[in-house]
Amino acid sequence: MENLKINISKSGVAADVVKGYEKQALENLSALYNKTGKGNDFLGWVELPAQITDAQFADLEATAAAIRAKADYVVVVGIGGSYLGARAVIDGLNNSFDWLQTSRKNPVILYAGQNIGEDYTHELLEFLQDKSFAVVVISKSGTTTEPAIAFRLLKELVEKKYSKTEAKERIVAITDAKKGALRTLATQEGYKTFVIPDDVGGRFSVLTPVGLLPIAIAGHNIRQLVKGAVDMKGLTAPGVAFDQNPAAQYAAVRNELHKKGKAIEILVNYQPKLHFFTEWWKQLYGESEGKDNKGIFPAGVDFSTDLHSMGQWIQEGVRNIFETVVTVKSPNTKVVVPNDAADLDGLNFLAGKRVDEVNKMAELGTLVAHVDGNVPNIMVEIPQLNEYYLGQMIYFFEIACGMSGYILGVNPFDQPGVEAYKKNMFALLEKPGYEAETKAIKAKL
Ligand code: PA5
Repeated sequence: MENLKINISKSGVAADVVKGYEKQALENLSALYNKTGKGNDFLGWVELPAQITDAQFADLEATAAAIRAKADYVVVVGIGGSYLGARAVIDGLNNSFDWLQTSRKNPVILYAGQNIGEDYTHELLEFLQDKSFAVVVISKSGTTTEPAIAFRLLKELVEKKYSKTEAKERIVAITDAKKGALRTLATQEGYKTFVIPDDVGGRFSVLTPVGLLPIAIAGHNIRQLVKGAVDMKGLTAPGVAFDQNPAAQYAAVRNELHKKGKAIEILVNYQPKLHFFTEWWKQLYGESEGKDNKGIFPAGVDFSTDLHSMGQWIQEGVRNIFETVVTVKSPNTKVVVPNDAADLDGLNFLAGKRVDEVNKMAELGTLVAHVDGNVPNIMVEIPQLNEYYLGQMIYFFEIACGMSGYILGVNPFDQPGVEAYKKNMFALLEKPGYEAETKAIKAKL
């Protein structure tokens, strides 16, 4: 069976230079497994995929089935690591137009708590008034403001529209085993809950109930997703030769490019369904590496759409970027460009070709143009866009991120910088306990 593959031949990094990272990369990989590096209390995700029990899968699947039976719309409430993984996989796998069908096999997944836009919130609540819906609220800390506000409003709507008793059937909470306001609330209200393990940080939590429950509710096979991750764990584990380990190769090459002055890595996809996979990747690498005044800035583009906008910058702007292209070898369906007798659009030279063939030539042409334009290229290829290969790709990027952060010399598993805005927001909102900060921030305005 085919696996995810990496191609670094167009990265401009010579083989002996890549090889120079071998010792460091493999030592760092061992540190992730042996828990001897920085942030070692947040390494639960390394072994996690292989540890999910049949009983845990069955519990998730049964809960998903119960919610699916009750609701046409399911609102997943969460932000950051409690949002992006689920959305990345669901958008990656969903039929792009299923949500527009009048009769559907799967509930439509909606999102809340990932922003504080009042109009968005209003429109969501208004939409749900006459719909059959359920809510999955996700917060590891159980105290994050954005999802807490959204959940307060949605909980009120569920209780008004249905009843407090029915709310127990329509609300599921995913949070810490013991701590946080959401745990207290869920226990008091008698909601079904799932636990986010202590040693798994938000951005590494997609293969916990945080991602698995919404993905199962959306109708996707979570066992295959996790199997992909387990198999990728085997392909990237200590003991695999450095030049055979795709994650070690990726970590080495991106660090070398960074050392050579490439400050920005652009994750590129050619499948619109992967837009939110890029968003997930941006959080994974941005929060893990951007600290201590270090880090590659993770950016993302959707091609060929953005070739008509950002393509100019990438081809000819400041030469401080490199690209990592996620390419899907074979589409799941087939569309052929038809012949047209009049050929008024001049497209008959494409007649009989699959649309994906055109996409692949756009990809190849862009690769050559960008490499010619001094944009180094790394290629990550998966055979197909399905649960199994998304699972492979998730684990690949996670384990590479751990290695890469250690090569950079940071703790990839904390995010101290995320607190700064929260402190200011609470001070400005005059939250009790923030009196001194309120005074200090008002003096700055
Ligand atoms: O990676 C992280 O830690 C963050 O993005 C969090 O996931 C995000 O802030 C949400 O936190 P919580 O799950 O505690 O509500």
